[in-house]
Amino acid sequence: MLITEPAIKIDKINMTLHEIKNPLTTIISNIQYIILENHLKYKDLKRIKAIENEALRIKNLVMNYSNTSARNKYINVNKVIDGIIYIFKPQLIENMIFLNKQLCESKIFFWGDEYKLKQVIVNLLKNAISACAYKDKGKIAISTAIIKKKIQIKIKDNGCGITKKDLPLIFTPFFTRKLSTEGNGLGLFITSEIIKDFKGEIKVKSKPNGGSTFLIKLPGTR
Ligand SMILES: Nc1ncnc2c1ncn2[C@@H]1O[C@H](COP(=O)(O)OP(=O)(O)O)[C@@H](O)[C@H]1O
Ligand SMILES: [Mg+2]
Repeated sequence: MLITEPAIKIDKINMTLHEIKNPLTTIISNIQYIILENHLKYKDLKRIKAIENEALRIKNLVMNYSNTSARNKYINVNKVIDGIIYIFKPQLIENMIFLNKQLCESKIFFWGDEYKLKQVIVNLLKNAISACAYKDKGKIAISTAIIKKKIQIKIKDNGCGITKKDLPLIFTPFFTRKLSTEGNGLGLFITSEIIKDFKGEIKVKSKPNGGSTFLIKLPGTR
């Protein structure tokens, strides 16, 4: 087999990305441990959350560029959601948001890349939290179900909602209504790319001041 120079370069890049990913994972899990195990002052929590967000952003970039299909496996969807909710607890408490969880009673398995599925749910949950952050009695509902052999994941919030004018734009890269420190407008773009890759679909219903509902449908596997 002839190994071309670009192939060698790509291989080196992949190796380097892998080497960046390992220490990053240690950094992120330690930050999350500190957040969960300490009663941090609001000011400190905000700082450490900012560090976590930036580290997660680097990790997202690294994961998006490294070789992915090899990571596919059966993913227990409800378990993944439970894990994410656990990590987001401090943020939910901080913003006084009530989270309602209704996960399908039977186990749901999806064949794909667990990290990508996590990224989708994290992006949607983050958006739901920021939509509720300035609201009294913020509520988020997360649910899963199997309907017509498809896996459905629904994330509903009673936050600020999206205007009719913005609604067609939210999946385009760099579209954001947030300050540059709070959002880069890539969350929903990356989310929709991943869903496409999963051969699924994502739909949104929203009304200004009436909250938003994001519904994901994925091909069922078992
Ligand atoms: N749950 C939601 N409630 C209200 N607006 C939302 C929600 N999710 C997304 N949006 C709108 O879509 C925009 C794009 O979202 P996203 O791609 O995740 O980028 P970012 O969160 O960095 O702004 C947001 O800035 C916001 O205006
Ligand atoms: Mg976002």
